[in-house]
Amino acid sequence: MKKLAKFFLAITMVITQLGWLMACGGGKEADSKVLYEKYADYFKIGFAINYELLDLPEYQEIYKHFNSMTAENEMKWAYIRPNAYQTSYQKADAFVAKAKELNIGMRGHALVWHHTSAVPNYINSSTPKDSLLTHIENHVDATIKHFGDDVIYAWDVVNEAITDNDNSSSIYRSSKDGSGGASFFYDIAGEDFVLTAFRQAQKTVEENNLNIKLFYNDYNMNNQAKRNRAIKMIRNIRAQGIRVDGIGMQGHYNIHTYKESEFKKAIQDFIAEGLEVHITELDISIHKDDNSRLAALTPELEEAQARVYKSIYKVCREFSKHVTSVTTWGVADDHTWLDNFPVKNRKNWPLLFNETYQPKKGFEAIMDFSS
Ligand code: GLA
Repeated sequence: MKKLAKFFLAITMVITQLGWLMACGGGKEADSKVLYEKYADYFKIGFAINYELLDLPEYQEIYKHFNSMTAENEMKWAYIRPNAYQTSYQKADAFVAKAKELNIGMRGHALVWHHTSAVPNYINSSTPKDSLLTHIENHVDATIKHFGDDVIYAWDVVNEAITDNDNSSSIYRSSKDGSGGASFFYDIAGEDFVLTAFRQAQKTVEENNLNIKLFYNDYNMNNQAKRNRAIKMIRNIRAQGIRVDGIGMQGHYNIHTYKESEFKKAIQDFIAEGLEVHITELDISIHKDDNSRLAALTPELEEAQARVYKSIYKVCREFSKHVTSVTTWGVADDHTWLDNFPVKNRKNWPLLFNETYQPKKGFEAIMDFSS
């Protein structure tokens, strides 16, 4: 009798467990409290960080939520090749070691960017065109080879080449386009600087059999006019028989201006071009304009921000056949570049974890797929 009761109890327990497993989608992912596991069927979940913060004790627990990492600065040209004959890989290599320790992938960011913070001082506005293009080839080739594809699964080959000026006759930023933030790469070499970078990246990746996707990365991609210019550039590159695998939509958004319809349209337009999509630098500012100042993040603003986060991850899930990676530009609100941009020394709270390293409403919102 006792044996029979035990047998029925065991059967009941198995049935209950099976029912529970089926109810939550049959997998550990669906029920997980870990962000990247929750998104295992959708896309990679990334964070960006700088070298000084990499080993911050408070961050180590947060890293469990991510399966992709980006070096905020340390893989840029000026950082790893300060002059033509000297490399400085030590900090960048520390990221690769950390990625291996965490068993996660990395986005390589970024091979060619005109910004003064990223350009080594052996290149300047009087560098001749031939010489600039040779430097680009050497840098792209050596950098891709150095890091290989142990952890790197994508490289931003060119960053921010497109003008913000809707009235410019050229799609590219240059000292003549009138939008500020000129690219002296374009001034010197025209479109050839972009073509050379992508041509070399493809050659290096293919000759060395590397499993790495090649991306163009830029901001304001929700803006139709700027997006059209980026698409035109990508078509020009491809028309030369050169590979561009994906678009990096930076995703520096704002709770006051973000529109789901625009974000969705941007993704759809890029998919229509046959591009893979990564959201590469996601953060959501809560400030309305440059005059806005706040002593603390209010619950209302945090909720408004959570709605934007929810919308972004929901749209990305909808297109997850093509959206393969979503990276937040930072880990927690204690450190964000938005504390100094566009206004110096103004606190902002743009990320998924707060200043005391706890998940914010935005985190809860993207963990909830029910609405
Ligand atoms: C741009 C670049 C990034 C970074 C941010 C500011 O978006 O692509 O690498 O420099 O600006 O942190």
